[in-house]
Amino acid sequence: MIQLSNINKQMKKHPILTDVSLNMEGIYGLIGPNGAGKTTLMKIISSLISLDSGGLTIYGEDYVKGKYVKQNKRIGYLPQDFMVYPNISAEEALDHIAMLKGVMDKRERRDTVNQVINEVNLQGHQNKKMIELSGGMRKRVGIAQLLIGKPSILVFDEPTAGLDIEERIRFRNLLKNLGANHTIIISSHIVEDIEFLSTKVGVLKKGKVLFEGTPAELKAQAAGYVWEYDATVEELDEIMNHKEVVQITEEETKISVRVFSNHEEKEAKSVPPRLIDGYLAVVKGEDE
Ligand SMILES: Nc1ncnc2c1ncn2[C@@H]1O[C@H](COP(=O)(O)OP(=O)(O)O)[C@@H](O)[C@H]1O
Ligand SMILES: [Mg+2]
Repeated sequence: MIQLSNINKQMKKHPILTDVSLNMEGIYGLIGPNGAGKTTLMKIISSLISLDSGGLTIYGEDYVKGKYVKQNKRIGYLPQDFMVYPNISAEEALDHIAMLKGVMDKRERRDTVNQVINEVNLQGHQNKKMIELSGGMRKRVGIAQLLIGKPSILVFDEPTAGLDIEERIRFRNLLKNLGANHTIIISSHIVEDIEFLSTKVGVLKKGKVLFEGTPAELKAQAAGYVWEYDATVEELDEIMNHKEVVQITEEETKISVRVFSNHEEKEAKSVPPRLIDGYLAVVKGEDE
């Protein structure tokens, strides 16, 4: 468990994080719009940047020393734009990283590299150059190189950004598997990306925590507020002009419009909220 208490961080006199307190565990989804402070927070946790004040304990041990978080070998951080050595193969890249991480024995290094390649399901692709790999594959190499150091906490910044749908689904499965023996923190500005993955979520906006709880609890934030209209094209304009529309779906001639409303919508039916509804309920009204 990673406990953050009242973390504050300013950059160039602008508050980036304000009194951030969170308890991260399991597969933890850190969500929030762009600029919320997710990357900043992840870099603080991974001891890459300083903080102004606040506490950070990991499995009960205090890690803040002055304005810095102490280096912690248990944490593996994957930045959003991970890319190493574009012109050598994935296997060579991993071999090189293993050497940098101190695995000097050649045979031991080969075993380690093979093991992490298997762990992230890169078998059959290890001889491709980094530059030739798809975004999803490259992310896997990024994770594989982290696993060489045997971290117990994995911190992934926007890992699904730029992946196509198939890669996303595969990636999700990989994270689920890694979640069995690692604590994982994933950030995303897309709620759907963490929907079926996270056991706990935190919502950050403009550097402040707006919510923390289970996905079911986040959904419940919108319970009773989500209504669905069946509409014709003509009615759609009318609804969009007068209601807070959260989603429109179209099937042949049938249009369904989901709206937020805190009072009964007589022409609509009340529907159970989804995670995105809970998220929107939490972040809306925080724009000022
Ligand atoms: N080095 C920096 N100097 C000044 N402001 C920064 C710096 N890095 C990030 N910021 C600002 O901090 C805020 C949060 O950024 P970031 O942590 O990247 O958010 P997120 O990852 O949620 O999109 C943004 O407003 C961004 O412009
Ligand atoms: Mg970011």
